Amino acid sequence: MYQAPRGTADILPEEQPYWYHIEKKAREICSLFGYKQIKTPVFEDVGLFNRSVGEGTDLMDKEIYVFEDRGNNKLALMPEGTAGVCRAYVEHGMQNLPQPVKVFYITPIFRYDRPQAGRYRLHYQFGCEAIGDGSPAVDSEIIDLLWNFYRSLGLTDIRLVMNSIGCRTCRPVYLEKLVNHYRSNTGAICQDCKTRLEKNPMRLLDCKNESCQPIAETAPKSIDYLCEDCRKHLADLEKYLGILGIPYTINHRLVRGLDYYTRTVFEVQPANNRSQSSIGGGGRYDHLVEAVGGKPAPAAGFAAGIERIILNMKEQGITVPDIPSPRVYCACMGEAAADLALHLASELRKAGVGTILASANRSLKAQLRHANSTGAEYTVIIGEDEVTNGTAVLRDMKDAGQVTMALDELKKTLIDRCASR
Ligand code: HAM
Repeated sequence: MYQAPRGTADILPEEQPYWYHIEKKAREICSLFGYKQIKTPVFEDVGLFNRSVGEGTDLMDKEIYVFEDRGNNKLALMPEGTAGVCRAYVEHGMQNLPQPVKVFYITPIFRYDRPQAGRYRLHYQFGCEAIGDGSPAVDSEIIDLLWNFYRSLGLTDIRLVMNSIGCRTCRPVYLEKLVNHYRSNTGAICQDCKTRLEKNPMRLLDCKNESCQPIAETAPKSIDYLCEDCRKHLADLEKYLGILGIPYTINHRLVRGLDYYTRTVFEVQPANNRSQSSIGGGGRYDHLVEAVGGKPAPAAGFAAGIERIILNMKEQGITVPDIPSPRVYCACMGEAAADLALHLASELRKAGVGTILASANRSLKAQLRHANSTGAEYTVIIGEDEVTNGTAVLRDMKDAGQVTMALDELKKTLIDRCASR
C-alpha cells in the first residue's frame, strides 16, 4: 500500500477549519495593510535559487529538490518564496509601478529536511514582500503585519527576536572579527563549524552543538560593527517598534539560514521555546532583485509556517470556528423519490440553502444516521407516498418533531429559514 512520502502529510477535512481560518486571517490582515496576492510557479529554474538563497547554505546544499524535466531543463521545487516573487517583480516590470510593491502569498514549500514535529519536507508558508523601498518604516510595517496576524489568531505567547547583520560596507569588517575569534578557538569547535568557517562564517553563530556554545556566546556582535547608515536604520526601526508597542529583543546570534539578508533579520518564536522552531521569520534583502537580474530595489519581507502556527494554536488551546456545513439533509426511498429529491436539492442550493443529498441506495435508517452525523438542522424525507401526494416530511433535527408539507411550501419554508443569501 502506498503512503504519503516521508515528511509530508495529508491535510484531511477535519483539519481544514484551522487552515481555512488562518488563511482567512492572513487575507484580512493583508487587505488591511494593502498587500495584494501573488502566485508564482512551484518550480523555477534552479539557477534562480543558486543566485538568491546562496550556494553554501543548507537549503541549497542539502535541502533543495532538483529535477530535470523532459526538455532537459534543470528545475527546482520552490524551497522558499522570496526568490520567485523577486523574479516576477523583474520579469513583469513592476519596478515601473509606484514603490514599494506589496504582495503576499500562501504557497507550498519543499525542503529535504530531517522530518520531526513541526519540520516537514512539504510545508506551507504565508509570506509578504515589500519591494522597492529601503526605509526602516518598511521593516517595521512588515513586522507589524506579522505580529498582528499572530494576534488575530489569538497567539499571544510569542516573542520577536531581531538582529542587524549589516550591509556590504560594514559586514566584511565584522566577518573578519568573527572569523578571527573562531580561528583562535578552532580546537574547540565542531566539524560543521570548521566547514562554516571556510564557507559561510555568518552561520557559525547558528550552531546548536554543545561544544560550540561558549565560543558563539563570546563571539563579536554584528551590531557593534554597523556602519553609520546601518546603525541609523536599526535605531529608526527600534523607534517605530516602540511607537507600535511591539516588544522585541536583540539576539546577536540570529543570522537566518538564507544568504540574501542585509541589515534587519527577525524571527517570531513561541515564548515557551519548547521546540527550536520559529513560527515566522524574515528581514531585509536589499540586493536580491539585482541578483536575479533587475535594477537595484531594496526590499523586506517575512514568511510564516502554517503547520507550526497550527501546532502552537493547539498547544495554547486555541480553537477555531467550524466551516459552515449544509443545514438541510435530503433523504429519499425509491427511484421516483430520488428524482424528486435531486430536483428539490438543486432548487434549494440555487436559492442558497446548503443541502446534502443522500445516496438513495442506502436504507432510510442509514440515511437518517448519516443526516445526524452531518449536523444538519433539517431533514427532508421523501418516500413513495410522498411522491404520490406531492408532499414531503420535514423533520426538525433538534427535537425530532416532523410535519408533512406540500413540496412547494416545504421548499419556501426552508429557503426562508436557511438561505444564506
Ligand atoms: P524561513 O525562516 O526559511 O524563511 O521559513 C519561514 C518559516 O517557514 C519558518 O519560520 C517556519 O515557520 C516555516 N518553516 C521553515 N522550514 C520548515 C519546515 N521544514 N517545516 C515546517 N515549517 C517550516 C524563508 O523562507 C524566507 N523566504 C522568509 C522571507 C520572506 N524573508 C524575506 N521575505
